[in-house]
Amino acid sequence: MTNFLRTSDFTHRELDSLMESAIAQKNVPTGEKPLAGKSIALVFFNPSLRTRASMQVGIYELGGNPVILEPGGTTWTLEHREGVVMDGDKTEHLAEFIRVLERYVSAIGVRTFAALQDWETERTDPILNAFARYASVPIINLESAMHHPCQSMADMMTIRERRVGRPTVREGTPHKAKVLLTWAWHPKPLPMAVPNSFALAAAQFGHDLRIAHPQGYELDEDLMDEIGRHATESGGSVEFTRDVHAAFDGVDVVYAKSWGGKQFYGNAAADIEHRAPLRTDWIVDEAKMARTNDALFMHCLPVRRNVIVTDAVIDSSRSIVIDEAENRMHIQKTIMSEIIG
Ligand code: CP
Repeated sequence: MTNFLRTSDFTHRELDSLMESAIAQKNVPTGEKPLAGKSIALVFFNPSLRTRASMQVGIYELGGNPVILEPGGTTWTLEHREGVVMDGDKTEHLAEFIRVLERYVSAIGVRTFAALQDWETERTDPILNAFARYASVPIINLESAMHHPCQSMADMMTIRERRVGRPTVREGTPHKAKVLLTWAWHPKPLPMAVPNSFALAAAQFGHDLRIAHPQGYELDEDLMDEIGRHATESGGSVEFTRDVHAAFDGVDVVYAKSWGGKQFYGNAAADIEHRAPLRTDWIVDEAKMARTNDALFMHCLPVRRNVIVTDAVIDSSRSIVIDEAENRMHIQKTIMSEIIG
């Protein structure tokens, strides 16, 4: 393993091995320090609670030293495009940033959200891929325009720990769950890295995935084709619905997330207008949860209460959002141990 950019760079068997190792370390920590004497840079272009804290604490627990950098905040603004004349607001090029940084550190984690301005460019994950192109040390994706693989691995780990769904004899998929990924209303458009990665990982792990969203919020077509292929290979399935009520019928897991429409990139006002009538229906509430198979409720956090999900659902015993956040640290420690240790 060199970089950790998206789960589809790894086989189901490799992902399963990472997950089992993370569960074992969580339950019976060995206290090993594979990062002793090593520093890891964590580059945050965007805000974070869980990712930043879990990486910082995880690196410490593995014996290493986290170096937090915030381009445009406490470090220089960064240009990632090749061949540009840097006469704008960007002070330093990634070419020098990376080559200097890797003289100090053993790996680089990077968070770089979609700017929601130019779909055709942003769907290629240009900044994350520029980091990977320039670097000779491992790059860990801490959420890019299109993927949040540390989150989706923590999500899959949390589902596995709960043993929901039905037992299988398939190697690497001890339980196969009916999993609903549902769009939810939010006052403004958000990136789609989390739903992309959740859907991808659920397919790779062989779950039966249902994706519910209103018209106008279709996910990337190429990625959906890829997800369909993974589901077929892993014995899972993928289906789509625009019926926000029937979507909940019989599922074992409800995963809520809002995202922006591809066609609205560069025009947030149009997206906000398009979604206005969706506010009342596209929320996870008790009535919808009552249609499920006593489903677990999941969300990557941060979440807007009584907008994405009602208090009654997120505060219920079926809500596992805090366990999900805890597992970010366990899976990331395993990923770092594998690629840096
Ligand atoms: N889920 C997640 O990545 O949380 P943060 O944005 O707080 O890091």
